[in-house]
Amino acid sequence: MDDRHIEKKDSRPRRRRLQDPERACDPLASVDADSSSLATTVNDILWGFLVSVSKALDLSYTGIMPHHIRVAVLASRIGRSLGLSERKIALISQAALIHDLGVRTWGDRAKLHEFELNDPYEHARDGYHILTGDESEAALEGRRTENEGRLPFLPHAVIILHHHDRWEGGNPSRLQQDAIPTESRVIHLADRVAVLLDATRPFNCQKGDILKAIEEQRARAFDPTLVEIFRDLAKTENFWFDLEPSFLFKSLAAYAVGGFSAPIGADTARAGGARLTEVIEILEALARVFAAVIDRRSPYTHRHSRSVGECAFILGKHLGLDDLTCRELRIAGLLHDLGKMGVSEDILDKNASLTEEEICVVKRHPYLTYHLLGDIPGFSRIKEWASFHHERLDGRGYPFGLDGSSLSTEARIVAVCDVFSALSEDRPYRPGLSLGEVQRILTAMAENGALDKVAVLELPCALRLARDSYATPIPRWSSRPTLTG
Ligand SMILES: [Fe+2]
Ligand SMILES: [Fe+2]
Ligand SMILES: [Fe+2]
Repeated sequence: MDDRHIEKKDSRPRRRRLQDPERACDPLASVDADSSSLATTVNDILWGFLVSVSKALDLSYTGIMPHHIRVAVLASRIGRSLGLSERKIALISQAALIHDLGVRTWGDRAKLHEFELNDPYEHARDGYHILTGDESEAALEGRRTENEGRLPFLPHAVIILHHHDRWEGGNPSRLQQDAIPTESRVIHLADRVAVLLDATRPFNCQKGDILKAIEEQRARAFDPTLVEIFRDLAKTENFWFDLEPSFLFKSLAAYAVGGFSAPIGADTARAGGARLTEVIEILEALARVFAAVIDRRSPYTHRHSRSVGECAFILGKHLGLDDLTCRELRIAGLLHDLGKMGVSEDILDKNASLTEEEICVVKRHPYLTYHLLGDIPGFSRIKEWASFHHERLDGRGYPFGLDGSSLSTEARIVAVCDVFSALSEDRPYRPGLSLGEVQRILTAMAENGALDKVAVLELPCALRLARDSYATPIPRWSSRPTLTG
């Protein structure tokens, strides 16, 4: 809410070659080994989710600049010509879809779209950290850890860590040439080709200029073998047409995994039954990663999405919703502000009242969340619960102006948790409010018909009871509020 407007532990120290993503734990490895329907489902969920968040990473006010998906198409084409296995091509494409997730601000992102880069390593390392969480330092140092088997995105993280490493060396990783993971070398070249494209000119007309720029960095920035492959691919006109915005998704489907099926998500998992827990665990892990990407854009929201996710889970449980629904609620809370990737940090961190135009920009973010999550078939429930968090029961919310007749219990829960978390946190224009003050405001909003009375009334009790059961970022709440009427 923006309230300016409105297996067994191995204790022996062992060195491991983290630069080889295939040696890291790999969710796709279990997919290959398991021919059950769930394997397909997990794979499809990964694709659907990653395509959606790639769009979020490319958001600006003027639309989606399809950098990540273009790099994924280029990388999958180069990987395919290199003769890599389907599994490696899929891994490269997935990592390419999120390769710049460590970029924090729009300004930093713009700098990366220059061909010559001064110091591109920080965002690569940040991306690695986001994907590996608390275990990242140990993993970076090559130490095995107790939780290593629970790092589902370690292969992607390793590729992203090295995606700006230069072939000739001089990298912070101290790797050079063949020691740099192949997947990272492929993404490096694909990324630099993508930034050379001028969106205002026919792409096939730029072949000569782009080839020249890439050749100049042959055996310096780029693997010479990959440059050869790129030169061959670039000869045909369709290579360039495939990169146009209208054809990118079809190109990804054709080249990345040989035509992956329509992405499916939690709704399908719900119907699937038996191993649902594994599907939900992957979804929660992905949602936690992108909650971190969203939250780190501003120091004022550094735990907001994670706080809303835990709050929604706890309140859902307390109100008697089933376990799967509560876990989907957690995912909705983690992703509710995905659309904020389309709001500049100048607005997010502004230490003053927003202008009318800035308020208009902020009001767009739940609309963006709705459409980004809507691109993941099977996310129909999660999409609505997440993107209705600024709707109000009296119809005065945004962006859809829904009222109580259209807002489900779950959507009401996310809305209450969003207000609760936002009021508890510091903002550029005010410090975090005391729990008493938060309680007073929530109660007033419920009494005025904006928020759900039962959800507001039960929240303190739910959080108090959950405090000992969950490691939550949610603060203590000492007393139960009362509602009139
Ligand atoms: Fe929001
Ligand atoms: Fe990058
Ligand atoms: Fe990039």
